Amino acid sequence: MKRRIAITGAGGFLGTALARRLVATGAEVLALSRRDPGLPGVRWQAYDLADESPSAAALEGVDVIVHAAFAMGRGSAALEQLNLTAALRLRDAARAGGRHFVFISSMSAHADAASSYGRAKWRIEAQLDPAHDAVVRPGLIVGPGGLYARLMGTLRRTPVVPVFFGGTQPIQPIALDDLVTALVQIVSRRLSGIFNLATPGHLTIRELYGRMLAAARLRRPLLPLPGGLTAQLLRGCEGLGLQLPVTSENLLGQKQLRAFDTTPCLARLGLTVKSLADVDWDAPVSPP
Ligand SMILES: NC(=O)c1ccc[n+]([C@@H]2O[C@H](COP(=O)([O-])OP(=O)(O)OC[C@H]3O[C@@H](n4cnc5c(N)ncnc54)[C@H](OP(=O)(O)O)[C@@H]3O)[C@@H](O)[C@H]2O)c1
Repeated sequence: MKRRIAITGAGGFLGTALARRLVATGAEVLALSRRDPGLPGVRWQAYDLADESPSAAALEGVDVIVHAAFAMGRGSAALEQLNLTAALRLRDAARAGGRHFVFISSMSAHADAASSYGRAKWRIEAQLDPAHDAVVRPGLIVGPGGLYARLMGTLRRTPVVPVFFGGTQPIQPIALDDLVTALVQIVSRRLSGIFNLATPGHLTIRELYGRMLAAARLRRPLLPLPGGLTAQLLRGCEGLGLQLPVTSENLLGQKQLRAFDTTPCLARLGLTVKSLADVDWDAPVSPP
């Protein structure tokens, strides 16, 4: 039977790649996003996280909701609440229609996360039922968009690379196409549970920058800086409305990174992902 999948954030880095792949596999895709992403073969319904929830008419025939949209910005209780409320409304819309709910979380989801982002993801996860819903925690998604492309853009522009909290924190990447393959499996097999998805091995932040600089054929010295103090300064600048290449949220997100054993999740999906050596670390300067 043809799967009908609604994707929030379908105009974003991950959402676009997923929508394209699903269409290529013969699924019907409905983009739930603020703007029409204009993807071939994809229907569009206007949707904002602040909306009540997509109407029953809009979700008619939909059997999976993949929730990839996330309002990012200066961390605040209001933003956390917006993301939580939207996720719960979508979860309820999924339950009401007997639909599979797939939430794109993050490896930084943690009850005591230093970043508002990590806490918001955790609060949403806590309201989901791993017996019915799928919680997907990707590592750093490596590809031509999202956080990775923003990081690469920053490395290209700055003469020195600031390193916070020592730079020995572990980070696990996953190539965009591997993550999309995993999501197609989860959607098409209607799998539930928690999926930690990344390369089985990890790098330190310093090693990550080393790989990215080498891929971009750049030489930049690493400059250790105090993370807590810099985060406070960034928050001050953000309070004044200044747009900076690194946000306080990006920085705090680096504070409590953890490494996960991803092998059980990858085995469940029957998936071998690119190793640290095989990931294509080169990415365009700016997100598309
Ligand atoms: N990139 C990574 O390394 C990474 C790692 C782990 C988890 N994730 C998660 O993966 C998901 C996708 O991330 P991404 O990298 O693809 O980021 P992205 O390109 O910024 O996509 C985020 C999407 O959220 C949408 N969005 C934001 N605020 C919205 C609002 N108020 N109403 C409706 N839509 C809204 C954006 O819509 P517009 O296009 O209209 O702005 C955008 O399409 C996110 O949940 C993110 O937390 C990403």
